[in-house]
Amino acid sequence: MNNSGIGVFDSGLGGLTAVKSICRELPKEDIVYFGDTGRLPYGTKTEETIKQYAAADIRFLLSRDVKLIVIACGTASSVALSDMRNMFDIPIVGVVEASCMAAVRACRNGKIGVIGTAATVKSGSYLKGIKAQDSSIEVFSNPCPLFVPLVENGHFDTEVTRLVVEEYLQTMKENNVDTLILGCTHYPLLEKAVARYMGDGVTLINPCAELAATLPGILGKDNLASRNRGGICENYVSDDPEGFAELGGVFLDRKIDGQVKKIDIEKY
Ligand code: DGL
Repeated sequence: MNNSGIGVFDSGLGGLTAVKSICRELPKEDIVYFGDTGRLPYGTKTEETIKQYAAADIRFLLSRDVKLIVIACGTASSVALSDMRNMFDIPIVGVVEASCMAAVRACRNGKIGVIGTAATVKSGSYLKGIKAQDSSIEVFSNPCPLFVPLVENGHFDTEVTRLVVEEYLQTMKENNVDTLILGCTHYPLLEKAVARYMGDGVTLINPCAELAATLPGILGKDNLASRNRGGICENYVSDDPEGFAELGGVFLDRKIDGQVKKIDIEKY
């Protein structure tokens, strides 16, 4: 048993989609969330910068005495996971592996689509993860850079969203993928528009939900599960706590409880 919290970080607000799934799977675990809102976006940065940011994010979470680190960010999971595992002596999980397994399980026609940030697609992380499960599967990857600002500005299912969805996903449709990984924290919020465009025959995979479903097993295996905790979530950001509290509620699907605190991430 270990009553410390689970540390979760993302480049900003999007990782709250992971917190939502983790709270559902593990209602008794406390969570310490860090959103690096001051340095967002990660998806357009170089590998070196993303690794440097991820290391600082983890050092901050370790200062809050967490027992497990969840990299909720698709970009940081894709680019930095193995380096972070080598650097830190704490279990660290990312969002790529569980979603690749779920996609391979769901796929029936041997064609999987992956969408994410430019850095995620460039890293080839999902391609490698899928091929490691089944090398015969064809993988089609596409960056969708406008999806993040659409979500952050509340365009979940508006006319402009529909146009951008069509622009980015047309090739996925032409390539006849039957499974599509929404490989970025923000994309599950566009699920309705994406599902409508791709049609009923296409299974959408939400990496944060897939990852959350694996956590009870990971905690159980290492004897890390909490007992008698209240499922409290502490939120930290590197910029604008008010903005986080406001839009964060949309990602979390409920009001953010308690105060959101601003920290100086440059110190970590
Ligand atoms: N959180 C990032 C991801 O999941 C998206 C936003 C960004 O580019 O930082 O890839």
